[in-house]
Amino acid sequence: MRQLSNPTARVASRAAVLVGLSLWISCGGSAPPDTMVTPGGAAPVDGTASFTVAQADRGRELFVAVCGECHSVGEFRGNTFQFTWRRRTAWDFYRTVSSTMPESAPGSLSDEEYVQIIAFVLGMNGYAPGSRDLAATEVELDQFVMNEGPGGS
Ligand code: HEC
Repeated sequence: MRQLSNPTARVASRAAVLVGLSLWISCGGSAPPDTMVTPGGAAPVDGTASFTVAQADRGRELFVAVCGECHSVGEFRGNTFQFTWRRRTAWDFYRTVSSTMPESAPGSLSDEEYVQIIAFVLGMNGYAPGSRDLAATEVELDQFVMNEGPGGS
C-alpha cells in the first residue's frame, strides 16, 4: 500500500500547500497599517511613557473600592476587553472612564486616581510597569494601544 506516493495525491497535496501559502500571504498583506503591532509584545508605541507598580497597585485598590460595586476585574482584561477597545488607546479609555464613571458620580475621582486605574488595567493587559509615573496627558496615554497585550482570561 503506497497510495500517498501516487502522482495524483502528490499534486493535490502540493496544491493545498500553495493555496495555504497564498492565503497566508494575502492575509498578511491586507493587515491595516494602523494596528501598531509591536514585535515581541506590549510596549508603549514610542517607548517613553510608563506606569509604575505603585500606580497599578493603587489603581487595583481604587477599582475594588469604587468600580467593584458594579464591575468585576475580569471585564477589563483579556480577549473580550481587548476586542472592544481594539485600535483605541489608553487616552480614549481614560476619557471615557473619567467622563462617564463611576456611573453614580462621573468625574468624581481626581485625574491622578483615574490614571492609577488605567495603570492597573494596562498591567492586566500585558504591559509591564516601568520606572516613571504615567501622567494624565494625551501624549503619554496615547502611547498605549489597548489591545496590544497578549489575550488571556
Ligand atoms: C454604580 C455602578 C457603576 C460604577 C460604580 C462604575 N460603573 Fe462603569 N459602568 C456602569 C454601567 C451601568 C455601564 C454601562 C453603561 C453604558 O453602557 O451606557 C458601565 C460601563 C463602563 C465602561 C464601558 C464604557 C463604554 O463606553 O464602553 C467602562 C470602561 C467602565 N464602566 C469603567 C468603570 C470604572 C473604571 C469604574 C470605577 C472608576 C466604574 N466603571 C464604576 C456602572 C458603573
